[in-house]
Amino acid sequence: MIVLDQKNRIFTLHTQNTTYQMKADQYNVLLHTYYGSRIDGFDLSALIQYGDRSFTPNPSEAGSNRNYSLDVMPQEYSTCGVGDFRLPSIELELANGSHTADMRYEGFRLEKGKYAMEGMPGFYSNEDETETLVITLKDAAAQVDMELYYSVFEDYDLITRTVRVVNQGTEEIRLCRCASLCLDFLRTDMDFITFNACHLMERCMDRGALRSGIQSVGSVRGISSHQHNPFVILCDRGADEDTGICYGAMLLYSGNFEAAVECSQYENSRLVMGIHPYHFCWTLEAGQAFTAPEAAMICSPDGFGQMSRQYHKAIRRHLLRDPYTGRRKPVLVNNWEATYFDFTADRLADIAREAAALGIELFVMDDGWFGSRNNDNCSLGDWQVNLDKLPGGLEALVSRIKNMGMKFGIWMEPEMVNEDSDLYRAHPDWALQVPGRAPSRGRGQLVLDFSRKDVRDHIYDQMKKVLSCVEISYLKWDMNRSLTDVWSVTLPARRQGEVYHRYVLGIYDLLERLHRDYPHILIEGCCGGGGRFDGGMLYYTPQIWCSDDTDAVDRLRIQYGTSFCYPVCTMGAHVSAVPNEQNGRVTPLKTRGITAMSGAFGYEMDLGKCTAEEKMEIRRQVESYKIYYDLLHDGDYYRLSSPFQDGIYTAWEHVSANRREALVSVVYDRNGAAPLFGTLRLKGLDPAFQYQINRTDSFYSGEILMKAGYPLPQMKGDYSAVQIYLRASE
Ligand code: GLA
Repeated sequence: MIVLDQKNRIFTLHTQNTTYQMKADQYNVLLHTYYGSRIDGFDLSALIQYGDRSFTPNPSEAGSNRNYSLDVMPQEYSTCGVGDFRLPSIELELANGSHTADMRYEGFRLEKGKYAMEGMPGFYSNEDETETLVITLKDAAAQVDMELYYSVFEDYDLITRTVRVVNQGTEEIRLCRCASLCLDFLRTDMDFITFNACHLMERCMDRGALRSGIQSVGSVRGISSHQHNPFVILCDRGADEDTGICYGAMLLYSGNFEAAVECSQYENSRLVMGIHPYHFCWTLEAGQAFTAPEAAMICSPDGFGQMSRQYHKAIRRHLLRDPYTGRRKPVLVNNWEATYFDFTADRLADIAREAAALGIELFVMDDGWFGSRNNDNCSLGDWQVNLDKLPGGLEALVSRIKNMGMKFGIWMEPEMVNEDSDLYRAHPDWALQVPGRAPSRGRGQLVLDFSRKDVRDHIYDQMKKVLSCVEISYLKWDMNRSLTDVWSVTLPARRQGEVYHRYVLGIYDLLERLHRDYPHILIEGCCGGGGRFDGGMLYYTPQIWCSDDTDAVDRLRIQYGTSFCYPVCTMGAHVSAVPNEQNGRVTPLKTRGITAMSGAFGYEMDLGKCTAEEKMEIRRQVESYKIYYDLLHDGDYYRLSSPFQDGIYTAWEHVSANRREALVSVVYDRNGAAPLFGTLRLKGLDPAFQYQINRTDSFYSGEILMKAGYPLPQMKGDYSAVQIYLRASE
């Protein structure tokens, strides 16, 4: 609900549990007056304290009033060069070389439904599900207009926002920074939580107290990156899964980003999040506009658990465009870890046949099927089938797979080119490179200049030939290096600061074309595993390969961190062979199944090598996944313990919306000779219900399970796991 107090120029956005307020003051500065637990009917600008503070400048309109300074007031969208020395949200370079921006309130409008994000990802809704507030600001001297957009998804406590900047003058201006989100707080006693690490260990949670100065995470790799994620949290120091206020900030963007928090003098702090200012400079000619990527905020007054569940629901219902919405996705088998590049059509057919017999429904052919690709140094860019490996082409292979009753999926890496490829030999200038400088390779490959439409068109034509020649149900869109040597032959010098962003818009363009032309194809995003796991990609690829690390124990950490923002159904997760290919760890097959099942489930191993007993276990897992699919994918997700705290087990729980069903998963870390007699307290159940345990005649009330706990079964061996299914008796 959006409440306007036009007389006092106060704008209040209410969600079910939260309130967000801003106010235009006497000098038309748009103040940010509150964000937090819901409060109705107040002007919260009373919280702002004015006073004479040295070295905090006073705007000219304030005359001799030294109590008024932009440098200390909480602002809705921070400016630069005119008296606020804290993190700017916008930086402008005008034709006269000045570098100041001073945006003042002009007016507002209300719209039904959600604002549109043209060519960029964004949450969507029906007209009657959301309301939008647009605040217009103006820098009269620079002749720049700005619109701040806010859409309110009440039920999810979600506020999405974006910013549009328009050059209303007659001369060219340069936009050097245009953040998507600015959030000011009149406090610094908070923790900043980020999700970091590296390839093979993505999105590990890192939590630390705010301290003076700027703390930031970001990416200048051209992708949102394995190293940091465009999702961060600010929260009470003591916040945990169930208590404390926390603010989630998610950027729906797949390229360079920055999320920075500044703690400044006088106990205030500011979070600014958006496209990374490194090598970003967008030229706006007279009349031209720029729109920043969307940011999505959820505030939870009741800890991280509630925040995550709200993100999960909002993402599932208002961001993903999944061809399987309302239907169960097929369980897949992927041949990568089974064969790498070394396969023939017969070998693939063998894997598929074994899989089909175990109830697996989709066969995915990974890297190595095109050009003359037998290693990772050639053929990217030549998307024609390798007839030596696959005689009879895709047609013959796919018809064999279909005859087994399976669907077929394929791997591609559209953004890349190898120097050893026909495409590169014909168009060496299509790869990103700086004149006079030999470009760096990553995994032996170069990056195609996706800011160019002609390059995208050519790749898309090739993709269409593949996707249209046989029935393809699934596409794995991979991307296996970071961007370097970012320069485009098609743009003039003053526009080279646009290439990173134009590249991202180029990916979105191609993905949107795929979505339009092949709406039935399930696209799984991938970037050396989870290097581009962000809300931007999720709009186009409703699931993303979570990590190249398939070890179940490492995956507990990766999936745990990922779950703070992203729902389980988006996390590509496969059972693979042991010793694990990445770290050599041996875990029980059951544990690998239970861990992968809390994701978009599949297998990535040579099933022909499994023993009869292992095959039985796999058949059981596939059946369980199918039975529990709705609970796993649509249920509420509760983290019951953290794999980062050196505990004895990691546990999590899925609960159905009506609370009548729940599935608890527990993976034990190490088992000692002394048995563990622990109880695990569950969450989200109905205290009054009697729950039947694992379809046996054992019953516990929801109250007991939540207050006292469930006695954990004794297990033997490292990394053993159990699943406990609860069903409320009628
Ligand atoms: C990346 C992906 C893997 C696999 C390989 C193929 O590393 O993350 O899953 O597809 O590429 O080259």
